[in-house]
Amino acid sequence: MWESGSNNISKRLCPGDVFRLSEPVRTMLRRAMLRLPKRDVSETETLYPTTPAGMRAFLATFFSRHYFQVQNSLMGYISSDEFTDVMARGAVRILDVGCGPAVGSLAIIDMVAALLGTYGYTTQRSVKVDCILNDTCGLSLGTGRRMLENYFKLIQRSRNLEAGRILQVQRQFPDNIGQLNRIASNQGKYDIVLLSYVVRPLHESEGVDGLKRGLRLVEGLCNTKGQVLILQDKYREQLMRRIGRVIGEPVKQAELVQEVYPERGETSVRSYSYYHCLYSPQKSQNEISHAA
Ligand SMILES: C[S@@+](CC[C@H](N)C(=O)[O-])C[C@H]1O[C@@H](n2cnc3c(N)ncnc32)[C@H](O)[C@@H]1O
Repeated sequence: MWESGSNNISKRLCPGDVFRLSEPVRTMLRRAMLRLPKRDVSETETLYPTTPAGMRAFLATFFSRHYFQVQNSLMGYISSDEFTDVMARGAVRILDVGCGPAVGSLAIIDMVAALLGTYGYTTQRSVKVDCILNDTCGLSLGTGRRMLENYFKLIQRSRNLEAGRILQVQRQFPDNIGQLNRIASNQGKYDIVLLSYVVRPLHESEGVDGLKRGLRLVEGLCNTKGQVLILQDKYREQLMRRIGRVIGEPVKQAELVQEVYPERGETSVRSYSYYHCLYSPQKSQNEISHAA
């Protein structure tokens, strides 16, 4: 049986209340950056990279920021009895919409690794993680896949954690819902659906109603204990609040302190504030049907 508890896992991920990348993630990130050219790029290219130099700038500026926000937002769920049940099944399935270089998927996988390292597993069965990476940009998908593969090589099953299937879906969300549905029918529904820093471009292309339609469709692909996480920076408060209102789920502001990695020759610890919306589609559905 798994034990659950948020204290131990948070001690591992953020010792002294400062989020810090684990050694395998630091190594993997350093290697990924070394493969990419270092050049000045625009702000837009840094946030939505389409070139190798843009990808390097994204990894240097945003990777650890978004990564820790995913971990901080999911700390309660990952430590919950619901997630304990998911782990006991031996497989965790992540759908990462607008994944970029698999930032959120890596954040979750390293949380699972921390959980396994913290508590151990009393049977010989290990946990597999399947990642469905979705992005319109081939460079993001390729970089994300390589980073995941590199991470799994670095940990070499040492923590009872194995790479499952890593699938890439390049068609844009939500037009790709048929494909996401087929994957869920063949492999099982998703335990965590992530939309990290992608609702801004989605809102621009689909509007709030289109975004709501997309979310409703993807919620149907979540398993009974699954959760949807939407994340965006502090400058998008209005957009996040609006999304929360149309889907009827709470949006919260959060703040975390993190070590800056890679080091930038400035202060090594920074605090970031952001908005997140984490909900269980099945739970919400049950509450609606009980109230009706
Ligand atoms: C700011 S990056 C976020 C990357 C990562 N999720 C993170 O949290 O760091 C946004 C990503 O969303 C992708 N994107 C934009 N519109 C999309 C859509 N309709 N469907 C899938 N991906 C999309 C972009 O190509 C880009 O890689």
